[in-house]
This record gives sequence, C-alpha cells and structure tokens, in this order.
Amino acid sequence: MHEVKCFDCGRGIEDPFVDSCPHCGGLLTIEMDLGEASGLRPYDLRKRPMGVWRYSPFLPVDATKAISLLEGGTPLYHCKNLARQLGVKTVHVKYEGANPTGSFKDRGMTVGVSRALELGCRTVGCASTGNTSASLAAYAAKGGLKCVVLLPSGKVAAGKLAQAMFYGAKVVMVEGSFDDALDVVKQLSKERELYLLNSVNPYRPEGQKTVAFEIMDQLDFDIPDRIILPVGNAANIWAVYKAFKEWKALGWIDKVPMLTGIQAEGSSPIVRAFQAGQRDFVPEAHPETVATAIRIGNPASGRKALQAIYDTKGHAASVTDDEIIAAQKLLGRSEGVGVEPASAASVAGLAKLLGEGVIARDERVVCICTGNVLKDPDTVMKSCEAILHAKATGEDVKRAIAQ
Ligand code: F0G
Repeated sequence: MHEVKCFDCGRGIEDPFVDSCPHCGGLLTIEMDLGEASGLRPYDLRKRPMGVWRYSPFLPVDATKAISLLEGGTPLYHCKNLARQLGVKTVHVKYEGANPTGSFKDRGMTVGVSRALELGCRTVGCASTGNTSASLAAYAAKGGLKCVVLLPSGKVAAGKLAQAMFYGAKVVMVEGSFDDALDVVKQLSKERELYLLNSVNPYRPEGQKTVAFEIMDQLDFDIPDRIILPVGNAANIWAVYKAFKEWKALGWIDKVPMLTGIQAEGSSPIVRAFQAGQRDFVPEAHPETVATAIRIGNPASGRKALQAIYDTKGHAASVTDDEIIAAQKLLGRSEGVGVEPASAASVAGLAKLLGEGVIARDERVVCICTGNVLKDPDTVMKSCEAILHAKATGEDVKRAIAQ
C-alpha cells in the first residue's frame, strides 16, 4: 500500500499520469505504508534472494508481477588501497556498474516499467544523458513495451547510445541539452504519447532506494558515517535519503549517514544553492562537463536533493573535470574497479573534502559509483597512456614495453 503525494503541498495525487502536482505544480513523492514491514526485522529480509525485490515490502508495485532482469545485489567493495592513498579510515565502493545494463538506473526501472504495465501503458519514454535510456530500453524490451528515448545531441557516451539502439528503442537526438529534452518528453507525456519514466516519476526513486538498503545489509546494519554520490537530475540522493528515513521510522536503524552530493564544476546548481544556504537553486543555462551523465543545469529533483543534504547534515561540493578523471584512474588502478566519469565524481569529492577538512580522517565512508567504465570508452582512451605497437616478435614487443 502506498500513496502518491505532492512533495510541496502534501496533497494526494489521483491522476497516475501527471508528472507534477495538478494543484501547485510541485514535485511528486510516494508515501509508503510500512505496515507489512513493521512486522519484520531487517534480518528477515535475508530469506529472500539478494537484489531489488528482496525489499518488496518497501516497494510500491506487486513483486509477483515485476519486470525484472535481476537488478541490484551489486558488490560493496572494501577499498583498503584507496583508503590508504586518500588517508581516510574506511572507504567502501558500492559498485552499481554491476547492474544488468551497467548502471544504478536498473533499480528504478524495474519498478517503473512494472508500474507502466500495471497501468496498462503501451509506450514508455524518457529524456536521458544516456544511462536512463539504456536501462529503459532494456526493461521495455523485457516488458514488451514500445520505447522512445530523447537524448542531447552529441553528448551521450558511446556505450549508452549503443545500448539504447541495441534494445530496440526509438532513439531521438534532440538539438539541445538534457534539460531541453526533458521539457519535450514531459510535453509528450502530457499528450499521452508515452508514459514518462524519468525520475520525476516517483516510482523510479522507490526502486533506487534499494541501493541504501543493500549498503546497510552488506555492512551488517553498521551504518556508515557518510555516503557520497554524484548528483545530476538529483533523484538518486533523494532516494537514498528516503530509504534511510523509512528504516529509521521503523526503528531498524538509529542514525542516518551524512549524505554528500558531488557535481561537476561546470554543472553545479545544487552546490551553489548549498553554499548559499538555499533550499531552492538557480538553474545553469549551459552546463558542461566530461562527466556527460551529470551534465544537467536544471535538476528536476533539485529541491529534494537539497532537503536530503540539509536534513542529514551532509554536504555538497563540486569537482573539476581533471579531478574526476584522476579519481576514475585512481579507483581503477588501486582497486581494479572501473567506473564511468560521473561515478568517479564521488571519489573525487571524497579526496577534495578530505583535503578541505570537511570529511574527517576517521570517518567510515561509502562512495556510490553509479555506472560502469565501459559506458564511456572514448573518455577512458583519451586519458590513458598511448597504446604500444610492435612487430610480431618477442624482441620487438620487448623493445615496445621498454619505452
Ligand atoms: N551517475 C550516473 C552514471 C548517471 O547516469 C546519473 C544520471 C547520475 C549519476 C546522477 O543521478 O540524476 O539521480 O542525480 N543520469 C541520468 C540519465 C540523468 O539520463 O541517465 P541523478
């Protein structure tokens, strides 16, 4: 049982096809009835297989009818080499690149596409910087739905674009930014051309909550001091916050980690709002960053993200493209963990905030690394040492590697 409500005015929302409150234009959110969960203890959930649907008492769709690709259940790596290099007590990396389509989006999409089928929709759609489109295309294929994805022209990493095409979505390159594409797809959704599965659809963050449930489960309910994650359209940090709030409401945990959102310097409206102590933000007209996944100037869930940060005594900071690429390589080369640039922003943020003394050296930190390194091979190949060439002889290969 659950209810869709307005985040801003609190009113209940009846129409399942709106993407904002018909009364005040506010953001939508879901209030879960935690009745089923209240009869359980956290360890009871372990009787179910690892993954998003282990947490079905906290999800707003019928688990028996779920469209699932066995998402979630991703590794939580204890990164001792990284912690030593950065000079912090404990770092875990939650590796969301291990999801079926290589990003955390699958957690929300299994719930979102299941909801679309529950409502009898035939076509689903989204605007995307890449990962949402890859994920939606795959889940739509599994669910037998038509899929339309709108992408910012020329700004989507190769792996993501290939995935959306491969799973059979209609891929439309829009002349403009992600923010422009989101405006257009919202319009199509209003005209009932498609069911909108961007994260303004409140069913998406419900699935994304499960990353937080898993982190607690994998740490044996020993709550970390801080969770750091990249912020783009700003729904994921809200989802993580909501997860902790629900478990705290049940008395399953007694504290919530400091949620720390990291944006790229060229796309950092939330960081600027945080620095000014504001609960709302001023959009950025021309966002730019190498981390194309989070190249977003007008984050749809920005106000929710700010609430998550303030309420947990967290933080928001920006990192440069150079810091992102350096962190991406550091994680790969110290831990063997390959993440895409946006995901590396969390590690870059950790390094920066340790340097500034915002994060204490004795903290236990979890970085959520949201997407796989293979999503964006072009950026990786540009930032690495040149490939060596040799004739097919041992001698020549020895010459090449001695260079
Ligand atoms: N990391 C990656 C790899 C992403 O793809 C995204 C968002 C984020 C972080 C930020 O998450 O938007 O919830 O704050 N990607 C969206 C997309 C916008 O279209 O794939 P957020």
